[in-house]
Amino acid sequence: METSIFDQLPRDCWVNIDTGQLTENMRLLIRAAGVPALAVVKANGYGHGYENTARAFIAGGASYLGVANLAEGLLLRRAGFNAPILIMCAMLAPEMKQAAEADFEFFVWRQDHIDALREFANKASPARVHLKINTGMGRIGCWPYEAVELARTLSQIPGVELKGLATHFASAYNPTIPDTDKQIALFDETIVALAAAGIRPKIIHAANSSGAFYYPKGRYDMVRFGISMYGVPGEMINLPEGVKTALSWHALITSTSILPKGHGVSYASEYVMPEEGRVGVLPVGYVDGFQRVPKNVNSVLVEGQERKTLGRICMDQCMIDLSGFVDITGKEVVLLGKQGDHEISVKDIAKRWGTNAYQVYCGISVRVPRRAI
Ligand SMILES: Cc1ncc(COP(=O)(O)O)c(C=O)c1O
Repeated sequence: METSIFDQLPRDCWVNIDTGQLTENMRLLIRAAGVPALAVVKANGYGHGYENTARAFIAGGASYLGVANLAEGLLLRRAGFNAPILIMCAMLAPEMKQAAEADFEFFVWRQDHIDALREFANKASPARVHLKINTGMGRIGCWPYEAVELARTLSQIPGVELKGLATHFASAYNPTIPDTDKQIALFDETIVALAAAGIRPKIIHAANSSGAFYYPKGRYDMVRFGISMYGVPGEMINLPEGVKTALSWHALITSTSILPKGHGVSYASEYVMPEEGRVGVLPVGYVDGFQRVPKNVNSVLVEGQERKTLGRICMDQCMIDLSGFVDITGKEVVLLGKQGDHEISVKDIAKRWGTNAYQVYCGISVRVPRRAI
Protein backbone atom coordinates (compact mmCIF):
# COMPACT_ATOMS: atom_id res chain seq x y z
CA MET A 1 0.00 0.00 0.00
CA GLU A 2 1.11 3.53 -0.60
CA THR A 3 -0.05 6.60 1.29
CA SER A 4 -1.60 7.89 -1.89
CA ILE A 5 -1.52 7.07 -5.56
CA PHE A 6 0.99 9.91 -5.92
CA ASP A 7 3.64 7.99 -3.98
CA GLN A 8 4.16 5.81 -7.04
CA LEU A 9 4.15 8.60 -9.61
CA PRO A 10 7.02 10.80 -10.80
CA ARG A 11 7.16 14.23 -9.19
CA ASP A 12 9.76 16.96 -8.89
CA CYS A 13 8.67 17.76 -5.34
CA TRP A 14 8.76 15.03 -2.70
CA VAL A 15 9.19 14.19 0.97
CA ASN A 16 11.82 11.79 2.30
CA ILE A 17 10.97 9.77 5.39
CA ASP A 18 13.75 8.17 7.39
CA THR A 19 11.78 5.16 8.58
CA GLY A 20 14.81 3.76 10.46
CA GLN A 21 14.84 6.93 12.55
CA LEU A 22 11.11 6.57 13.27
CA THR A 23 11.72 3.02 14.54
CA GLU A 24 14.60 4.23 16.68
CA ASN A 25 12.44 7.07 18.06
CA MET A 26 9.75 4.60 19.08
CA ARG A 27 12.26 2.31 20.75
CA LEU A 28 13.84 5.19 22.71
CA LEU A 29 10.49 6.64 23.78
CA ILE A 30 9.17 3.31 25.05
CA ARG A 31 12.40 2.77 26.96
CA ALA A 32 12.19 6.24 28.51
CA ALA A 33 8.50 5.98 29.44
CA GLY A 34 8.79 2.42 30.73
CA VAL A 35 5.25 1.48 29.65
CA PRO A 36 3.75 0.11 26.40
CA ALA A 37 2.99 2.54 23.59
CA LEU A 38 0.10 3.30 21.34
CA ALA A 39 1.58 4.90 18.22
CA VAL A 40 -0.69 7.63 16.88
CA VAL A 41 -0.52 7.33 13.09
CA LYS A 42 -3.65 9.30 12.26
CA ALA A 43 -3.58 12.09 9.69
CA ASN A 44 -1.37 10.14 7.33
CA GLY A 45 1.07 9.42 10.14
CA TYR A 46 1.32 13.15 10.93
CA GLY A 47 2.13 13.61 7.26
CA HIS A 48 4.80 10.88 7.18
CA GLY A 49 2.60 8.26 5.48
CA TYR A 50 0.31 5.67 7.07
CA GLU A 51 2.25 2.63 6.06
CA ASN A 52 5.71 4.11 6.65
CA THR A 53 4.81 5.05 10.17
CA ALA A 54 2.73 2.04 11.18
CA ARG A 55 5.46 -0.34 10.02
CA ALA A 56 8.27 1.69 11.61
CA PHE A 57 6.58 2.12 14.98
CA ILE A 58 5.55 -1.51 15.25
CA ALA A 59 9.15 -2.44 14.47
CA GLY A 60 10.14 -0.07 17.30
CA GLY A 61 7.89 -1.87 19.78
CA ALA A 62 4.48 -0.13 19.61
CA SER A 63 1.71 -2.42 20.84
CA TYR A 64 -1.21 -0.40 19.48
CA LEU A 65 -1.90 1.93 16.57
CA GLY A 66 -4.13 4.97 17.03
CA VAL A 67 -6.18 6.46 14.20
CA ALA A 68 -8.80 9.19 13.99
CA ASN A 69 -11.60 7.35 12.23
CA LEU A 70 -12.88 4.15 10.69
CA ALA A 71 -11.52 4.96 7.22
CA GLU A 72 -7.97 5.30 8.53
CA GLY A 73 -8.31 2.06 10.43
CA LEU A 74 -9.59 0.21 7.35
CA LEU A 75 -6.73 1.60 5.29
CA LEU A 76 -4.23 0.11 7.73
CA ARG A 77 -6.04 -3.23 7.93
CA ARG A 78 -6.13 -3.42 4.12
CA ALA A 79 -2.39 -2.81 4.14
CA GLY A 80 -2.03 -5.88 6.34
CA PHE A 81 -1.53 -4.37 9.80
CA ASN A 82 -3.10 -6.65 12.37
CA ALA A 83 -1.96 -4.92 15.58
CA PRO A 84 -4.78 -3.64 17.82
CA ILE A 85 -6.08 -0.36 16.40
CA LEU A 86 -7.88 2.22 18.53
CA ILE A 87 -10.17 4.68 16.75
CA MET A 88 -9.83 7.84 18.82
CA CYS A 89 -12.42 10.32 17.51
CA ALA A 90 -16.15 10.41 18.11
CA MET A 91 -18.17 8.10 15.84
CA LEU A 92 -21.89 7.78 15.30
CA ALA A 93 -23.56 4.50 16.19
CA PRO A 94 -23.67 3.00 12.65
CA GLU A 95 -19.93 3.51 12.30
CA MET A 96 -19.34 1.97 15.71
CA LYS A 97 -21.07 -1.17 14.48
CA GLN A 98 -18.83 -1.29 11.43
CA ALA A 99 -15.79 -0.62 13.61
CA ALA A 100 -16.68 -3.47 15.96
CA GLU A 101 -17.29 -5.83 13.05
CA ALA A 102 -13.90 -4.97 11.60
CA ASP A 103 -12.25 -5.64 14.99
CA PHE A 104 -11.31 -2.06 15.87
CA GLU A 105 -11.34 -0.75 19.40
CA PHE A 106 -13.04 2.58 20.04
CA PHE A 107 -14.08 5.07 22.69
CA VAL A 108 -17.59 5.07 24.16
CA TRP A 109 -19.11 7.44 26.73
CA ARG A 110 -22.77 8.16 25.90
CA GLN A 111 -26.06 6.42 26.48
CA ASP A 112 -26.66 6.09 22.73
CA HIS A 113 -23.34 4.22 22.47
CA ILE A 114 -24.62 1.79 25.10
CA ASP A 115 -27.93 1.43 23.26
CA ALA A 116 -26.11 0.75 19.99
CA LEU A 117 -23.79 -1.78 21.63
CA ARG A 118 -26.77 -3.63 23.07
CA GLU A 119 -28.12 -3.95 19.53
CA PHE A 120 -25.04 -5.05 17.68
CA ALA A 121 -22.75 -6.61 20.29
CA ASN A 122 -22.03 -10.15 19.44
CA LYS A 123 -20.74 -12.70 21.92
CA ALA A 124 -18.85 -14.59 19.23
CA SER A 125 -16.64 -11.60 18.50
CA PRO A 126 -16.80 -9.09 21.35
CA ALA A 127 -16.73 -5.35 20.78
CA ARG A 128 -13.67 -4.04 22.62
CA VAL A 129 -14.35 -0.57 23.94
CA HIS A 130 -12.55 2.04 26.03
CA LEU A 131 -14.63 4.23 28.33
CA LYS A 132 -13.56 7.83 27.72
CA ILE A 133 -13.73 10.32 30.58
CA ASN A 134 -13.75 14.07 30.10
CA THR A 135 -11.48 15.31 32.87
CA GLY A 136 -10.92 18.72 31.32
CA MET A 137 -10.40 18.55 27.56
CA GLY A 138 -14.08 19.29 26.89
CA ARG A 139 -14.11 17.27 23.68
CA ILE A 140 -15.33 13.71 24.13
CA GLY A 141 -15.98 11.64 27.23
CA CYS A 142 -18.48 11.24 30.05
CA TRP A 143 -18.28 13.20 33.30
CA PRO A 144 -16.17 11.46 35.94
CA TYR A 145 -19.24 10.97 38.18
CA GLU A 146 -20.99 9.02 35.40
CA ALA A 147 -18.09 6.60 34.90
CA VAL A 148 -19.00 3.89 37.41
CA GLU A 149 -22.54 3.50 36.18
CA LEU A 150 -21.46 3.42 32.52
CA ALA A 151 -18.61 1.01 33.22
CA ARG A 152 -20.93 -1.29 35.16
CA THR A 153 -23.47 -1.28 32.35
CA LEU A 154 -20.81 -1.88 29.71
CA SER A 155 -19.37 -4.79 31.71
CA GLN A 156 -22.79 -6.40 31.79
CA ILE A 157 -23.59 -6.30 28.07
CA PRO A 158 -22.90 -9.70 26.55
CA GLY A 159 -20.49 -9.33 23.66
CA VAL A 160 -18.85 -6.18 25.02
CA GLU A 161 -15.39 -6.11 26.55
CA LEU A 162 -14.59 -2.99 28.55
CA LYS A 163 -10.92 -3.09 27.62
CA GLY A 164 -9.81 0.40 28.49
CA LEU A 165 -10.39 3.50 30.55
CA ALA A 166 -9.04 6.71 29.08
CA THR A 167 -8.87 10.45 29.24
CA HIS A 168 -6.98 13.10 27.26
CA PHE A 169 -4.92 16.00 28.58
CA ALA A 170 -5.72 19.46 27.28
CA SER A 171 -2.65 21.39 28.39
CA ALA A 172 0.10 18.90 29.13
CA TYR A 173 2.45 20.80 26.83
CA ASN A 174 2.58 23.56 29.46
CA PRO A 175 3.47 22.24 32.91
CA THR A 176 3.46 25.73 34.41
CA ILE A 177 -0.33 25.68 34.53
CA PRO A 178 -2.08 23.36 37.00
CA ASP A 179 -4.68 21.93 34.57
CA THR A 180 -2.99 18.58 33.98
CA ASP A 181 -2.51 17.91 37.70
CA LYS A 182 -6.22 18.54 38.14
CA GLN A 183 -7.05 16.19 35.26
CA ILE A 184 -4.83 13.47 36.73
CA ALA A 185 -6.46 13.89 40.14
CA LEU A 186 -9.95 13.56 38.64
CA PHE A 187 -8.91 10.55 36.59
CA ASP A 188 -7.36 8.91 39.66
CA GLU A 189 -10.59 9.44 41.60
CA THR A 190 -12.48 7.79 38.76
CA ILE A 191 -10.12 4.81 38.76
CA VAL A 192 -10.59 4.42 42.52
CA ALA A 193 -14.38 4.64 42.18
CA LEU A 194 -14.36 1.97 39.48
CA ALA A 195 -12.10 -0.24 41.61
CA ALA A 196 -14.54 0.12 44.50
CA ALA A 197 -17.23 -1.19 42.16
CA GLY A 198 -14.95 -4.11 41.27
CA ILE A 199 -14.09 -2.81 37.79
CA ARG A 200 -10.52 -2.53 36.52
CA PRO A 201 -10.27 -2.23 32.72
CA LYS A 202 -7.15 -3.87 31.35
CA ILE A 203 -5.58 -0.70 29.92
CA ILE A 204 -5.76 2.67 31.64
CA HIS A 205 -4.36 5.43 29.45
CA ALA A 206 -4.22 9.19 29.41
CA ALA A 207 -0.95 10.73 28.28
CA ASN A 208 0.05 12.09 24.91
CA SER A 209 3.73 12.91 24.28
CA SER A 210 4.05 15.90 26.57
CA GLY A 211 1.83 14.24 29.17
CA ALA A 212 4.21 11.28 29.25
CA PHE A 213 7.30 13.37 29.79
CA TYR A 214 6.07 16.14 32.05
CA TYR A 215 3.80 13.94 34.15
CA PRO A 216 5.26 10.45 34.75
CA LYS A 217 2.21 9.76 36.94
CA GLY A 218 0.02 10.19 33.88
CA ARG A 219 1.61 7.27 32.03
CA TYR A 220 -0.62 4.62 33.66
CA ASP A 221 -0.62 1.39 31.57
CA MET A 222 0.11 2.89 28.16
CA VAL A 223 1.12 6.19 26.55
CA ARG A 224 -0.48 7.42 23.33
CA PHE A 225 2.61 8.86 21.63
CA GLY A 226 2.20 11.24 18.70
CA ILE A 227 4.42 14.20 17.89
CA SER A 228 7.40 12.94 19.92
CA MET A 229 7.67 9.81 17.75
CA TYR A 230 8.06 12.14 14.81
CA GLY A 231 11.02 13.68 16.63
CA VAL A 232 9.53 17.04 17.60
CA PRO A 233 10.22 18.07 21.20
CA GLY A 234 7.64 19.89 23.32
CA GLU A 235 7.82 23.60 24.06
CA MET A 236 9.54 23.09 27.38
CA ILE A 237 11.03 19.62 27.41
CA ASN A 238 13.69 17.77 25.51
CA LEU A 239 13.08 14.31 24.17
CA PRO A 240 15.30 11.36 25.08
CA GLU A 241 18.78 11.55 23.54
CA GLY A 242 18.74 10.19 19.99
CA VAL A 243 15.11 11.00 19.15
CA LYS A 244 15.18 13.03 15.93
CA THR A 245 12.93 14.27 13.17
CA ALA A 246 12.66 12.00 10.15
CA LEU A 247 10.97 14.07 7.45
CA SER A 248 12.56 16.35 4.86
CA TRP A 249 10.86 18.11 1.97
CA HIS A 250 12.57 18.62 -1.38
CA ALA A 251 11.92 20.07 -4.83
CA LEU A 252 13.80 20.60 -8.07
CA ILE A 253 14.10 24.05 -9.61
CA THR A 254 11.98 23.76 -12.76
CA SER A 255 12.92 27.07 -14.43
CA THR A 256 14.90 30.25 -13.88
CA SER A 257 14.88 33.61 -15.58
CA ILE A 258 16.46 37.02 -15.13
CA LEU A 259 13.93 39.73 -14.32
CA PRO A 260 14.73 43.46 -14.60
CA LYS A 261 14.59 45.97 -11.77
CA GLY A 262 10.97 46.99 -11.10
CA HIS A 263 9.44 43.78 -12.49
CA GLY A 264 6.68 42.22 -10.39
CA VAL A 265 6.84 38.61 -9.22
CA SER A 266 3.72 36.46 -8.82
CA TYR A 267 0.07 37.46 -8.41
CA ALA A 268 -0.71 41.10 -7.69
CA SER A 269 3.00 41.92 -8.08
CA GLU A 270 3.29 42.01 -4.34
CA TYR A 271 7.02 41.63 -4.75
CA VAL A 272 8.85 43.98 -7.09
CA MET A 273 12.46 43.30 -8.13
CA PRO A 274 14.66 45.87 -6.35
CA GLU A 275 17.45 45.14 -8.85
CA GLU A 276 17.84 42.97 -11.90
CA GLY A 277 18.24 39.41 -10.68
CA ARG A 278 17.60 35.74 -11.28
CA VAL A 279 14.32 34.24 -10.13
CA GLY A 280 13.76 30.49 -9.85
CA VAL A 281 10.53 28.55 -10.07
CA LEU A 282 9.71 25.65 -7.75
CA PRO A 283 7.01 23.08 -8.52
CA VAL A 284 5.40 23.46 -5.12
CA GLY A 285 2.46 25.59 -4.09
CA TYR A 286 -0.15 25.97 -1.41
CA VAL A 287 -1.98 22.88 -2.64
CA ASP A 288 1.09 20.91 -1.64
CA GLY A 289 0.98 22.44 1.83
CA PHE A 290 3.50 25.24 1.28
CA GLN A 291 1.36 27.92 2.83
CA ARG A 292 0.35 31.11 1.08
CA VAL A 293 1.41 33.38 3.90
CA PRO A 294 2.00 37.09 3.33
CA LYS A 295 5.25 39.06 3.51
CA ASN A 296 7.62 36.58 1.88
CA VAL A 297 8.31 34.74 5.11
CA ASN A 298 9.03 31.47 3.38
CA SER A 299 12.53 30.41 2.48
CA VAL A 300 14.27 27.38 1.04
CA LEU A 301 17.83 26.07 0.97
CA VAL A 302 19.64 26.36 -2.35
CA GLU A 303 23.22 25.11 -2.70
CA GLY A 304 23.51 25.36 1.09
CA GLN A 305 22.22 28.97 1.23
CA GLU A 306 18.90 30.16 2.61
CA ARG A 307 16.91 31.98 -0.08
CA LYS A 308 13.55 33.76 0.23
CA THR A 309 10.46 32.96 -1.75
CA LEU A 310 9.33 35.99 -3.75
CA GLY A 311 5.75 37.22 -3.89
CA ARG A 312 2.67 35.13 -3.35
CA ILE A 313 2.88 31.37 -3.28
CA CYS A 314 0.72 30.15 -6.19
CA MET A 315 -1.48 27.07 -6.18
CA ASP A 316 1.15 24.78 -7.72
CA GLN A 317 4.34 26.81 -7.97
CA CYS A 318 6.32 29.49 -6.22
CA MET A 319 9.25 31.72 -7.03
CA ILE A 320 12.55 32.06 -5.18
CA ASP A 321 15.37 34.55 -5.15
CA LEU A 322 18.34 33.17 -7.09
CA SER A 323 20.26 36.42 -7.46
CA GLY A 324 23.95 35.72 -7.95
CA PHE A 325 23.33 32.20 -9.26
CA VAL A 326 23.79 31.02 -12.84
CA ASP A 327 20.95 29.06 -14.42
CA ILE A 328 20.65 26.15 -11.98
CA THR A 329 17.44 24.71 -13.41
CA GLY A 330 17.17 21.10 -12.25
CA LYS A 331 19.03 21.65 -8.94
CA GLU A 332 17.50 20.29 -5.77
CA VAL A 333 16.34 22.64 -3.04
CA VAL A 334 15.21 21.84 0.49
CA LEU A 335 12.01 23.33 1.86
CA LEU A 336 12.20 21.57 5.23
CA GLY A 337 15.34 19.87 6.49
CA LYS A 338 19.09 20.27 6.14
CA GLN A 339 21.33 21.25 3.27
CA GLY A 340 25.02 21.95 3.87
CA ASP A 341 25.36 23.73 7.22
CA HIS A 342 21.85 25.15 7.15
CA GLU A 343 18.58 23.77 8.40
CA ILE A 344 14.98 24.89 8.10
CA SER A 345 13.24 22.99 10.88
CA VAL A 346 9.57 22.17 11.21
CA LYS A 347 9.46 24.57 14.15
CA ASP A 348 11.00 27.37 12.04
CA ILE A 349 8.24 26.90 9.50
CA ALA A 350 5.53 26.65 12.16
CA LYS A 351 6.70 29.97 13.59
CA ARG A 352 6.60 31.65 10.18
CA TRP A 353 3.12 30.33 9.51
CA GLY A 354 1.80 31.14 12.98
CA THR A 355 0.97 27.51 13.69
CA ASN A 356 2.49 24.40 15.23
CA ALA A 357 4.66 21.56 13.95
CA TYR A 358 1.63 19.23 13.81
CA GLN A 359 -0.08 21.40 11.23
CA VAL A 360 3.03 21.87 9.11
CA TYR A 361 3.61 18.11 8.88
CA CYS A 362 -0.05 17.15 8.44
CA GLY A 363 -0.51 19.93 5.90
CA ILE A 364 1.94 18.46 3.39
CA SER A 365 -0.64 17.21 0.95
CA VAL A 366 -0.97 13.68 -0.35
CA ARG A 367 0.01 15.05 -3.76
CA VAL A 368 3.59 15.19 -2.49
CA PRO A 369 4.99 11.67 -2.73
CA ARG A 370 6.49 10.21 0.42
CA ARG A 371 9.72 8.31 -0.24
CA ALA A 372 10.82 5.97 2.51
CA ILE A 373 14.60 6.01 2.83
C1 LIG B 1 -6.60 11.11 21.86
C2 LIG B 1 -5.20 11.43 21.50
N1 LIG B 1 -4.20 10.83 22.12
C3 LIG B 1 -2.89 11.08 21.82
C4 LIG B 1 -2.55 12.01 20.86
C5 LIG B 1 -1.10 12.28 20.57
O1 LIG B 1 -0.75 13.58 20.96
P1 LIG B 1 0.74 14.13 20.76
O2 LIG B 1 0.95 14.23 19.29
O3 LIG B 1 0.71 15.48 21.39
O4 LIG B 1 1.67 13.18 21.41
C6 LIG B 1 -3.58 12.68 20.18
C7 LIG B 1 -3.23 13.68 19.18
O5 LIG B 1 -3.95 14.50 18.73
C8 LIG B 1 -4.94 12.38 20.51
O6 LIG B 1 -5.95 13.01 19.89
